[in-house]
Amino acid sequence: MKPPAPTRRDRLRAMLADLKMPGALEAVDGILSEVDGGAVSAAEAIEQLLNAQIVLRNNRRLQTAMRSSRLPAVKTLDQFDFAFQPSIKREQIESLHELGFLDRRENVILLGPPGVGKTHLAISLAITAAEAGRRVYYGTLAGLIESLTEAKTAGNLSRRLRVLTHPALLVVDEIGYLPVSQDGAVLFFQLINARHERSSTVLTSNKGFEEWGSVLGDEVMAAALIDRLVHHCHIVNIRGNSYRMREHQNLLQAGPDRRRKKHGS
Ligand SMILES: Nc1ncnc2c1ncn2[C@@H]1O[C@H](COP(=O)(O)OP(=O)(O)OP(=O)(O)O)[C@@H](O)[C@H]1O
Ligand SMILES: [Mg+2]
Repeated sequence: MKPPAPTRRDRLRAMLADLKMPGALEAVDGILSEVDGGAVSAAEAIEQLLNAQIVLRNNRRLQTAMRSSRLPAVKTLDQFDFAFQPSIKREQIESLHELGFLDRRENVILLGPPGVGKTHLAISLAITAAEAGRRVYYGTLAGLIESLTEAKTAGNLSRRLRVLTHPALLVVDEIGYLPVSQDGAVLFFQLINARHERSSTVLTSNKGFEEWGSVLGDEVMAAALIDRLVHHCHIVNIRGNSYRMREHQNLLQAGPDRRRKKHGS
């Protein structure tokens, strides 16, 4: 007996497998059922199908980036509560997440006191870039200087500088918390110099620019560094309360019963 001819669903599944679109392949049956039931239009169905594939691809990109970029956590724009931080212009942050600044090789500097979301927003920019297929790398200033110092000692500073110049987006977190040695400041200057106008750097600091001289132990170098960084730059000045304090306060106000519940016991 002749095998039954493949249905249109079978052909669609085979095509999606052939095109290596596993996200769309997994979603296609559900979407077609909704089309049959009249719940979605043809255009909506195509949109849902492609979106399923894009979501899968972005997740994969993110997983790869999480392994290679040293991002310390997943923090996204969706998780950011703008109502808590009214000094932040939501449109500015949303427009930065459209990533035009990466193509224009501009920098982003997030300034503000502890706990106001500087690292959160720096990471969410890096994650958005990674999902868009761009190479990203994260380091604290102290961590980056340590790795440059090690490379210099081992005689391969220029290779390390090339590696750190390569990512389209480099996060330099926590400028201002730990003191920097004079040699360390020189290495950091070399890094920023190498990236200047080639790729974007997102920096965070709890100190205003006027204090960077004492952070780096050299007023003249700090001035030259700031000059390069702000040449093509978006500055996000955050003034407000620490989100960490809010979490502590919520726990304290909740009392011992809620506190236990919050920890899942
Ligand atoms: N507006 C916000 N909405 C949601 N979560 C927030 C917000 N601001 C901060 N957080 C969360 O609070 C914690 C502290 O924020 P973050 O680490 O970004 O602060 P920071 O400005 O980098 O502070 P520090 O200067 O101490 O490094 C993180 O877990 C972050 O996800
Ligand atoms: Mg931080």
